[in-house]
Amino acid sequence: MTNQENRTASNHWRSTFGFIAAAAGSAVGLGNIWKFPYITGQNGGGTFVLFYLLCIVFLGFPIMVAEVMVGKISQSSPVRAYSRLSNQSRLWQVVGSIGVITGFVILSYYSVVAGWTLHYLFLSITKGFPQGSQPEAYADLFTSLYQSVRLNIWWHTVFMGITTVIVLRGVRGGIERVAEWGMIALFGLLVGLAIYSSTLPGFPTSLEFVFGQSAKFTWSSALEALGHAFFSLSLGMGAMLTYGSYLQRRDNIVTTCTAIAIADTTVAIGACLILFPITFSVGLEPAAGPGLVFINIPLALLQLPFGQIWLLVFFLLLSLAALTSAISLLEVPTAFLIDSLGWSRSMAASCCAALIYLLGFPSAVSGGEGFWGEGLKQILGMTWFDTVDYLASNWLLPLGGIGISLFVGWRLTYQQRKQELGSLPWLYSILVFLIRWLIPVAIVLVMLHALGVL
Ligand code: PFF
Repeated sequence: MTNQENRTASNHWRSTFGFIAAAAGSAVGLGNIWKFPYITGQNGGGTFVLFYLLCIVFLGFPIMVAEVMVGKISQSSPVRAYSRLSNQSRLWQVVGSIGVITGFVILSYYSVVAGWTLHYLFLSITKGFPQGSQPEAYADLFTSLYQSVRLNIWWHTVFMGITTVIVLRGVRGGIERVAEWGMIALFGLLVGLAIYSSTLPGFPTSLEFVFGQSAKFTWSSALEALGHAFFSLSLGMGAMLTYGSYLQRRDNIVTTCTAIAIADTTVAIGACLILFPITFSVGLEPAAGPGLVFINIPLALLQLPFGQIWLLVFFLLLSLAALTSAISLLEVPTAFLIDSLGWSRSMAASCCAALIYLLGFPSAVSGGEGFWGEGLKQILGMTWFDTVDYLASNWLLPLGGIGISLFVGWRLTYQQRKQELGSLPWLYSILVFLIRWLIPVAIVLVMLHALGVL
């Protein structure tokens, strides 16, 4: 059997729920629990959250439907999918390839943050946290990790190693199980933590912060909210397309995508409603930056009875959420090499992982004093880590989103779209209008505003 037949013949999800769990596993990750609360804090709260939710409903959801549709119809990985459905057009193959490159870039720094969660998991096991409830001690603990070249490289290595081993074995089957149980456990824990946070004195202030108006919102906040909607839903680089290619004919795209988008958004908003009450109750800054979750959660949980165990469960589940997202990031270039160049899975996954691992080194040392950290900050105003995160989420993913919406809106045939979306005519018309017109125009407008051209 050739590699191509190998990938397409019987490689489907075992159940529709398995797909939802794996795709939600890709969507729910560090983006929701680590990144969304801290960028909400930096962008002043309410208006940013509202704009983000609008982006999820009007841009993110239709693009997810579009991506999964292309995967399902073509039963191929991104570049091949574009090629197959466009009569081998070079232009569309290039659009697919940009997604593959974006996956490389994102995983290179994502793995570094995931490494921080592994370090905190390790500290939870070894009881390595400070005693007492002084926020400064927890902030110092995070800063020392952030600045440590040795620890960052070590945990980046461990995390990439685990991700590679799982992708080497193939993402379906194993990952479906892990994602199903992991998602349910994560939801349970977050609900418990949200209930706890709602009893804290800072809860009313945090509701006001997350849902009230904010004066800090600018066009660059709008671009950040837009980019984060893509990042959080794993859109714009072919991850959902690749997972969609393992769907069966009978699976319904609109209902499955609705479930994934709701799960992802609930976790993101839930993470804010857990973190900000703690932030306001202990007098920390909501704009504390990337350390927010790593400072607040240990600080709060260690005050509870059996705090050490809660902390361990939290960082275990956060590491698992990061892992299920990282797997989807590595699966995109791996499936591309298997599908388009006929490589074996082991060769494809290990070569991609090795390259991504090396590309992650500058991010791993970005907290230090050297060139990639302080050095670049002097020149660009941002470390290497911040630069790749900014470029990948705010620019490359939305550009990939324009690509997929133009492809589905204008290049696929009416029959192809109708077959997948056709059961409700009004829904079909709304989705096609959003995909054809609103999405490309809205993304371009936000980008031009953020660049200061408009
Ligand atoms: N959605 C993931 C998160 O929120 O952590 C990150 C991610 C995974 C982005 C897969 C893009 C992707 F293709």
